[in-house]
Amino acid sequence: MSRILITGASGTIGRHLVQSLTAQGTPFEVMRSKPVADGRTRVGSYDDVASLTAAFADIDTLFVLLPLTPNKLTHARHVAAAAKTAGVSHIVRSSGAGADPAAGFALPRLQGQVDEILASTGLATTFLRPAGFMQNYLSFMADMVRGGMIYGATADAAQSLIDARDIAAVAARVLVNPAPHAGQAYTLTGGEALTDSQRAAVLSQALGRPVGFTAIAPQAATDAMRQMGMPDELVSWMASLNELVSAGYAAGISPDVQNLLGRAPIGFAQFAAEHQAAWR
Ligand SMILES: NC(=O)c1ccc[n+]([C@@H]2O[C@H](COP(=O)([O-])OP(=O)(O)OC[C@H]3O[C@@H](n4cnc5c(N)ncnc54)[C@H](OP(=O)(O)O)[C@@H]3O)[C@@H](O)[C@H]2O)c1
Repeated sequence: MSRILITGASGTIGRHLVQSLTAQGTPFEVMRSKPVADGRTRVGSYDDVASLTAAFADIDTLFVLLPLTPNKLTHARHVAAAAKTAGVSHIVRSSGAGADPAAGFALPRLQGQVDEILASTGLATTFLRPAGFMQNYLSFMADMVRGGMIYGATADAAQSLIDARDIAAVAARVLVNPAPHAGQAYTLTGGEALTDSQRAAVLSQALGRPVGFTAIAPQAATDAMRQMGMPDELVSWMASLNELVSAGYAAGISPDVQNLLGRAPIGFAQFAAEHQAAWR
């Protein structure tokens, strides 16, 4: 059986991917950037190509999850070099919707450049390109939900957010038998495109108290990100995301989740109902 290694295993997608693979009985190993004393975790850092080469030894199928950091392209080059040296056969990468090295917006352009670096290895590749995650409401948006008002520079435009559990379910499906997915790129969206106000209304319903949405100017969002100490690259990538959402480019609905899983994507109402405790 092919040996599978999961990177980013402690993250939003990775946590659910570990659960999905375990549930379907697929053996796998995980890589963490720092040692974990569980006897089954390999250590490898995207900052250190030699550590990646060692971590990828004997691995056939590699799930690549690169965090959104200013040195993402360097990390991608390190992964590509290490995967080739170590003899990996197939890379399955979680990328981003619209990834394209020629994209007019900075964030999908970056994701496309990363995909291109990995494809240039000549190894088999499969790219999962998810839309925005519903789980953002559990991370950087959670305090706003708790406070009853969500602020965003998205012009209240519709987005087809996806539940990270569906990304993980697709990844698990691909990893267990990657060959038919070689050379493929899948766009992973939810099954509905809702505006921020509509999602706030869904949250109000789930929580039984008002949650609203206030559209803010792009410059106000940029100023807030700078005040939080975000690096310039991240600020410009997130600003480009707000621009493309505001322009309506994040509202498309892809059939790929339905086709790959044989069921509809998880809806935002289900996500909200299942996570109410996080916002109490
Ligand atoms: N949030 C969204 O709406 C959205 C939408 C589309 C695409 N994306 C993309 O999805 C990605 C983020 O996914 P996520 O939210 O699942 O990730 P995440 O929760 O940010 O987790 C990042 C993972 O990267 C690992 N990591 C960090 N530094 C590392 C290093 N130096 N070496 C090795 N591993 C390292 C961490 O593991 P350790 O514990 O081992 O350090 C962690 O598991 C980004 O590329 C983002 O652009 C996000």
